Amino acid sequence: MDYADFHRRSLTERDAFWSEQAQLVDWHTPPTQICDYSNPPFAKWFVGGTTNLCHNAVDRHLATRPDQAALIFVSTETGIERTYSFRELHAEVQRMAATLLGLGVKQGDRVLIYMPMIPEAAFAMLACARIGAIHSVVFGGFASVSLASRIDDAEPTVIVSADAGSRGGKVVAYKPLLDEAIKLAVHKPAKVLMVDRGLSPFDRVEGRDEDYATWRDGQADTVVPCAWLDSTHPSYTLYTSGTTGKPKGVQRDTGGYAVALAASMKYIYLGNAGETYFSTSDIGWVVGHSYIVYGPLIAGMATIMYEGLPIRPDAAIWWSLVEKYKVTSMFSAPTAVRVLKKQDPAALKKHDLSSLRALFLAGEPLDEPTAQWISDALGRPIIDNYWQTETGWPILSLCNGVEKAVSKFGSPGKAVYGYDVKLIDEGTGEELKGANQKGVVVIEGPLPPGCMQTVWRDDERFVKTYWTRVRGKVVDGVQQPDRHLYSTFDWGVRDADGYYFILGRTDDVINVAGHRLGTREIEESLSSHASVAEVAVVGVADQLKGQVAMAFVVLKDASRAATPEGALALEGELMKVVDNQLGAVARPSRVRFISALPKTRSGKMLRRVIQAICEGRDPGDLSTVEDPTAVQQIRELFAAR
Ligand code: PRX
Repeated sequence: MDYADFHRRSLTERDAFWSEQAQLVDWHTPPTQICDYSNPPFAKWFVGGTTNLCHNAVDRHLATRPDQAALIFVSTETGIERTYSFRELHAEVQRMAATLLGLGVKQGDRVLIYMPMIPEAAFAMLACARIGAIHSVVFGGFASVSLASRIDDAEPTVIVSADAGSRGGKVVAYKPLLDEAIKLAVHKPAKVLMVDRGLSPFDRVEGRDEDYATWRDGQADTVVPCAWLDSTHPSYTLYTSGTTGKPKGVQRDTGGYAVALAASMKYIYLGNAGETYFSTSDIGWVVGHSYIVYGPLIAGMATIMYEGLPIRPDAAIWWSLVEKYKVTSMFSAPTAVRVLKKQDPAALKKHDLSSLRALFLAGEPLDEPTAQWISDALGRPIIDNYWQTETGWPILSLCNGVEKAVSKFGSPGKAVYGYDVKLIDEGTGEELKGANQKGVVVIEGPLPPGCMQTVWRDDERFVKTYWTRVRGKVVDGVQQPDRHLYSTFDWGVRDADGYYFILGRTDDVINVAGHRLGTREIEESLSSHASVAEVAVVGVADQLKGQVAMAFVVLKDASRAATPEGALALEGELMKVVDNQLGAVARPSRVRFISALPKTRSGKMLRRVIQAICEGRDPGDLSTVEDPTAVQQIRELFAAR
């Protein structure tokens, strides 16, 4: 099929198009309306329909493939490797669902999941979906302050956690961080359900903490039916960083998400029932939600859940899994590829990768040399795709399942069906229709199915943060309706063939090793140290991680960093603060001390000036900088590196 037609039809015959896609999933009651966009920018998909994500991911495959692999768990950290068939997954999810019900979880309640990459994390997500509880997974690499703010926003009835994770053979205890987070949070969960892996002994809080093994043992053949939920019932919230310190709870629906994922497995990720999908992400991120847990299972595929590093025991580990489990689609991030690039290239040639249809990469810009390297090393197609926590599935990609297209290295491809992608001139707000013009990447509403419904409990923030209303023009005497544009906060250009190139964020969100972080959160954390008067954190280009966070601090008492030893000690102390509060993922690569930060006369921090100097670029017009010595100091620090 011609892709341009397919894309055009998804927009011009929106309801017919998505009504067809809705056939890819099971409905308990079919929808009566495909898209209700009567209250823009809020879109309601498949109104009147009832369905269940867990039914579509698990139960519906029992009739045709009960003994086929569904979840393949591989931990190179603990040496455990175990396959769950759809039948076994069904049983495990019901045990977890029964436990949650037993702990008092009701439809619409939130369950916060703070877990390492273990099967119980997926069971817990699917169990929530099964009973209509809203899960909120918090990345295991986040520490107590990050976790506490999410607990307070989600107000979970139950938190599901584990004693520990493991990274590179080192045990990372979760329970003390969780206990500290609950202490910090205003909201207190009624129960904490603990999966004890036997990695790290932990204290139990009497009356609050429950042991999952005990609950599970009591319900060998438990039956918990799927709750038939309105298509618009929230399935989960997932927190993501923005320009303020307070993370946003991205809220997703049920029916729209099921349809969007099922369609994406077919048209983008080229996955068929009975095959194996391997995404190397983490359940704490959106890729883990969409393409470790829900997407592949909805498609009737086996999904590999991997706990460990890409280079341990050696750089061939992932490729050995591709061979062993005959992986057909694989999904990873550019940073992981750059890590592999530093290893012996022979590792990639050791295994038979002929089952692999393509390697999909997303989460951060895929630079051309890295794309070329992995393409040569694997000898398989490399497909870059661009999307966000907010959208839940690709905005830009090649849709080879519709029509085979050529990749252009450096570009994540064209606008995906369902997305009315545009480039907007930042200054004038006008659409840039020509080729090769740089603008802000926006999507004209309604967002397609599967995208965020709103910010959890904050419709106003959703509208204010993301949407711009464009007054409708009068055409031939007829008033056209207003249009609503969703901002991705990314810069982009489009070439004459319709391929987009992403040129970085327009806001203060940074991307470290594919992990999305807000510089404001890191600044707030550093500011909590008694010695800090003022701080600016910027993202600086890095060969391996894409970007790293760099902090510039003005001290209350400069003498603390007057000697190189003093500065080093304080730098270490400040990094510890971030480790303890937010987690090591957010730790700045350097903390430098200066006497003033570059600001405008009105006090606006010029983070972009700092970033440009740190990246060795021209910072542009400096006439607005109040204190030129601030710029000078950053230049000197940069030159001394
Ligand atoms: O800046 C873009 C970048 O990552 C942001 C979204 O991050 P997150 O919410 O963590 O979702 C990741 C889902 C894959 C985007 O706004 N980004 C993501 N993919 C790409 C990308 N930048 C360039 N190329 C990509 N393929």
